Amino acid sequence: MNKTNATSIESSRIAQSIGLTLDRFIKNNQDQFQYASGELSQLLRDIALASKVVNREVNKAGLIDIMGAMGTQNMAGDNQQKLDVLANIRFTRALAKGGEVCALVSEEAESFVDLNNEGKYVIAIDPLDGSSNIDVNVSIGTIFSIYRRKTQTGTPLQSIDILQKGSEQVAAGYVLYGSSTMMVYTTGHGVNGFTYEPSLGEYFLSHPDLKMPEDGKIYSINEGSSNSFSNAIRDYIQYCKDQNYTARYIGSLVADFHRNMLKGGIYIYPITSKDPHGKLRLMYECNALAFIAEQAGGKASNGHNRILDIELKELHQRTAFYVGSKNMVTKAETFK
Ligand code: AHG
Ligand code: MN
Ligand code: MN
Repeated sequence: MNKTNATSIESSRIAQSIGLTLDRFIKNNQDQFQYASGELSQLLRDIALASKVVNREVNKAGLIDIMGAMGTQNMAGDNQQKLDVLANIRFTRALAKGGEVCALVSEEAESFVDLNNEGKYVIAIDPLDGSSNIDVNVSIGTIFSIYRRKTQTGTPLQSIDILQKGSEQVAAGYVLYGSSTMMVYTTGHGVNGFTYEPSLGEYFLSHPDLKMPEDGKIYSINEGSSNSFSNAIRDYIQYCKDQNYTARYIGSLVADFHRNMLKGGIYIYPITSKDPHGKLRLMYECNALAFIAEQAGGKASNGHNRILDIELKELHQRTAFYVGSKNMVTKAETFK
């Protein structure tokens, strides 16, 4: 047997033992979606494809010159890393080529990008989340939210198309570039997770119908910022210690969220004296994870109100973020 044959037999053996590909899963479940015309399915495939390209680049970081800072800042004043910029280009290009998305909101761009096409969807994306972890080989991610445009295609885009509440999302997901690469998403019918098999270049269903434990013992908060937390947050941290909870904080929201989703836990990024409106962005960080959390039986709030009900006033709006196991978030909210 020649080497090519052996490789393809091995590949099909892996495919059979692992099972359902992301492509097939999307196709099988297309009818669940109320506008089942196939465009949302194609859009999810475009995202998956771009994520494979980003995954390849993430894996090469250190070997080629893509680590480190660009020497520029994005509109939020964060230092842009080369991979942030590269990931933004990869996702923007894939979504522009796909034609299903008419407008794109990205952490890396000050205003939304009008793709000047007939696409019915609007996407908000954090192309690379956890960028301070790139240079130190720690898990990073991509977060995305998908909305239907409200106005007719072919007419100029309006702010009601762009500034939609999280409850209007039709799909949301994240990609975690971790010890393995995963894509987790929801279209409002539960949450499913897919693990990337690099030798086949395919995502396979590995975590069907994900459910977040209702309780947990992990708390994730940047305790180094305690001096700028409110008394309520400090009291809650003390409560976690009294309960003998475990502290885990990676500093990549996607990775902290994913761990808590599988194991049970709470992630909090509260308002601080430095960031009086919170640090995390509602449109392309919190809304997607809030939608996924709720679909998995978890909960997400700003400490008082449901994240998905918060009105959007500006693209880069920030919020406090409490997300995770339902009972833990409910408990944290009682600390005033
Ligand atoms: P990004 O890399 O997209 O700017 O996001 C970083 C976010 C989030 O991933 C993480 O949980 C949080 O910032 C960490 O902030 P602190 O370093 O202030 O804890
Ligand atoms: Mn981020
Ligand atoms: Mn980012």
